[in-house]
Amino acid sequence: MALKWMNDWSRANPKDIYAPAIGIGIIGAVLVAATLLVSLGQPFKTSSVQTGPRGEGAVVVKFASDRNTPDPTIADYMSQDPIKPQPGDKLAKDVYKNVQVLGNLTEANFTRLMVSMAQWVAPTQGCAFCHGNGDISTYSEDKLYTKVVARRMLQMTQNINENWSGHVQSVNEAGVNCYTCHRGQNIPSGVWYRIDPVNKDTMGWAAVQNRVTIQSQWTSLPSDALEKYLLEGKNILVSAQSVRDKTDKATIQDTERTFSLMNYIDNSLNVNCTFCHSTRAFWDTAQVTPQWATALLGIQMVNEVNNDYLAPLAKVFPASQLGPKYQDAPKLACNTCHKGYQRPLGGMDMIKDWPELASSAPPKY
Ligand code: HEC
Ligand code: HEC
Ligand code: HEC
Ligand code: HEC
Repeated sequence: MALKWMNDWSRANPKDIYAPAIGIGIIGAVLVAATLLVSLGQPFKTSSVQTGPRGEGAVVVKFASDRNTPDPTIADYMSQDPIKPQPGDKLAKDVYKNVQVLGNLTEANFTRLMVSMAQWVAPTQGCAFCHGNGDISTYSEDKLYTKVVARRMLQMTQNINENWSGHVQSVNEAGVNCYTCHRGQNIPSGVWYRIDPVNKDTMGWAAVQNRVTIQSQWTSLPSDALEKYLLEGKNILVSAQSVRDKTDKATIQDTERTFSLMNYIDNSLNVNCTFCHSTRAFWDTAQVTPQWATALLGIQMVNEVNNDYLAPLAKVFPASQLGPKYQDAPKLACNTCHKGYQRPLGGMDMIKDWPELASSAPPKY
């Protein structure tokens, strides 16, 4: 029947070659699209991961394509195997003049770490970033602030791996090294400074909100959540039911500030609230997921690192590296390591090759 109709039509329109061509083109395109859909699957497929007990909605739903795209900086990571010490190898403290942290490394492993530090933190500037352009005899000098900061960074990294393994090894042996935060940049992403007040006081309402800033996560929520909770260690709990709340009266603004922090955490890990909480009872620690406990440790870890390592470096950093409003030192938080991923660098093992950074004790190779 279709054939007869086509014959009639062709006879009536002998010169029209475009209509049949377009018709066949459309049929072809539909066929190709259908084949692609069937063979590749539908493009907006979602996948859910259950994060807590059943029946609580403790599920994180994402586009399957998002979940399967690994952090692109994983491919740029460079590492080197430790060099087995030989009898008679000299230690750095015997060879060099001014090593205060890495003295127990053999000379070969000391150089290996210097080369990798340069790659992780200053791939364009190299050794000169911390040691200047002078010859090697000047390398013991502490003239550049970058070297003094880097020494403290070495201690900070050792401390995180040694004392906060409950966080940085919560799932498997992951740990952190310079690359976890720096990713080939002098200054890691996700650094923050104090910026409050961001507004004028209104009727007793502290002037820290209703302005879109990075620290309010582009919302009207308070811009001082990181400062209060991840530097000053203020109590995060606001619900009337939560145990620790009894002595501490929370205001409405405290509730908004807690929400601001929780938003920040969500964005840093690219998850949502149900990754950690049962949304019917945010206050109930009996209904949380294991990740909630990891996050709680993370909050304590970040407070310690900011107070003990970064804040005191305000004296060392040049003015250009200090906060615009209070000349405070740059500080870090969840995003500095996580960078929008549930686990930094997909949970890659960052200490396997680096016993020097995994602990402050003399390294065992
Ligand atoms: C990110 C900063 C940084 C970079 C980049 C860096 N170093 Fe270092 N370097 C340090 C720090 C910090 C110390 C001191 C370590 C300590 O106190 O334990 C040091 C110490 C040294 C020393 C010992 C000097 C002495 O006599 O006390 C040598 C040698 C050295 N580095 C070589 C290098 C070489 C070679 C490179 C490039 C491949 C390099 N460093 C890149 C930070 C850096
Ligand atoms: C010093 C770097 C660093 C900082 C800062 C950091 N984390 Fe983590 N976090 C890690 C590492 C590394 C892992 C992966 C542990 C593993 O794979 O065993 C991790 C894992 C987690 C997990 C578990 C994920 C899972 O799949 O089970 C949660 C939850 C988490 N972090 C939350 C936070 C929160 C919230 C903050 C800020 C308060 C934070 N982290 C700050 C390094 C960090
Ligand atoms: C947990 C995250 C983290 C880790 C791990 C880390 N750093 Fe840093 N680093 C920071 C932050 C935050 C700053 C402050 C950024 C700024 O200078 O504005 C910083 C600053 C520095 C600076 C000064 C850069 C500049 O231009 O001002 C150097 C040098 C440095 N780090 C070296 C290292 C080295 C070497 C390691 C590994 C031993 C390391 N860092 C590990 C977070 C980290
Ligand atoms: C990565 C884990 C994690 C995610 C994701 C998370 N939270 Fe939290 N939340 C915590 C932890 C840990 C605490 C407890 C902090 C403490 O005890 O100091 C907490 C505390 C709270 C509290 C205070 C509870 C009380 O007893 O007063 C509220 C409210 C809250 N979160 C809401 C949220 C909301 C809303 C979201 C989503 C926007 C969210 N949280 C996402 C880990 C998380």
